[in-house]
Amino acid sequence: MKTATALKKLNLDISEFEERLFDHSIVGITDAEGTIIYVNKNFCKISKYSTDELIGNDHRILKSGEHSKEFFSDLWDAITSGKVWEGEMKNKTKDGKFYWVNSIIIPITDDKGIKNYVSIQNNITKEKEIQDRLIRMEDDLVKQNVTLLSEVEKKSADLVKSERLATIGTMASRVAHDLKNPLTIIHTYADMLTPEILTKLDPQDREKWFRLQTSVLDMNRIIEDVLDFARTTEIKKKKTSFLSILRLAMNHVKTSYGIAIHLPDRDVSVKCDARKMEGVMSNLLNNAVHAVDGQGEVDVEMSTDSKFLTIKVKDSGPGIPENDLEKIFEPMYTTKTTGTGLGLVICKSIVEQHGGTISVSNKPTTFTITLPLS
Ligand SMILES: Nc1ncnc2c1ncn2[C@@H]1O[C@H](COP(=O)(O)OP(=O)(O)O)[C@@H](O)[C@H]1O
Ligand SMILES: [Mg+2]
Repeated sequence: MKTATALKKLNLDISEFEERLFDHSIVGITDAEGTIIYVNKNFCKISKYSTDELIGNDHRILKSGEHSKEFFSDLWDAITSGKVWEGEMKNKTKDGKFYWVNSIIIPITDDKGIKNYVSIQNNITKEKEIQDRLIRMEDDLVKQNVTLLSEVEKKSADLVKSERLATIGTMASRVAHDLKNPLTIIHTYADMLTPEILTKLDPQDREKWFRLQTSVLDMNRIIEDVLDFARTTEIKKKKTSFLSILRLAMNHVKTSYGIAIHLPDRDVSVKCDARKMEGVMSNLLNNAVHAVDGQGEVDVEMSTDSKFLTIKVKDSGPGIPENDLEKIFEPMYTTKTTGTGLGLVICKSIVEQHGGTISVSNKPTTFTITLPLS
């Protein structure tokens, strides 16, 4: 049964019913060409245009720029072929504000074809805003979730790594500790025997004896590295001349004839753990000497600003492959046959305990340390 007939039966006035029905809606009627011929009060209220401004115009007056050409051609295709179109649309008011409507456009036909289009719309701007906010919140949540997940992954990977390192560290330091005493005995006896043996040996065997001595020193260095790595004693800071630290460090550097090591002329006084910094510097200097491989230069430079001492150790060696630059401060990264790959890890840990930084760059190979002056 048609609504009008049903209403008549109930003895209700259809015009009043229509008015009530459209009280809350935005209603517009156009002719077959889409020219507006009727708008209700709500249409004017929401669009901020007067009835006169709207009548004679077409709906393009409300275009917001939100929808594509295809959106409108789909809409026109539907209604010009007599179909009802339903959808959401963003419109623009006379004063440039935007509003969203839920829209239904009904083509009205007579026997000659389409006569009018009636559009009934409801304002859904608030719902849209809430929806947008929800979408944005969801996006944020997804992003936060991704960040959290990758942080958790990284943290657990770090944890596994540090646990593994701690286990390796404990084991290695136990072995190193047990080796230290027998090695000291070998070292001492070898030193004691050296003068006597050297007089008796022919040049070839003498060479072997020296190699034995160097191997003992290498072993001793490996043991010291491992023990230093496992031992993280607290640092004891005292005002110290950094040049004297460098000079003491030089005593542990295995240099050779073709290598020139230049220390800075100017001294700087800095509050640090002198013994530990001596270890750091001898480590860097030994690495540099090893890198120049018998022939080249090693330069140590110092500069200060009001808060920091910057120490640069440069060498004329071939440098570090770009891909490995980040790895060299990781435990057990070594390219040497008798290396432990622990030297730079220990250096980094000591420098950071002082509140400083250590970094590396190539061309020329430069290790840069910054240390707070006090
Ligand atoms: N001055 C340098 N020039 C080139 N490579 C270097 C230099 N210093 C360190 N490296 C690289 O970093 C690695 C790690 O150094 P380190 O942690 O001191 O351990 P190790 O000396 O036992 O190998 C070295 O094996 C070497 O490949
Ligand atoms: Mg080293």
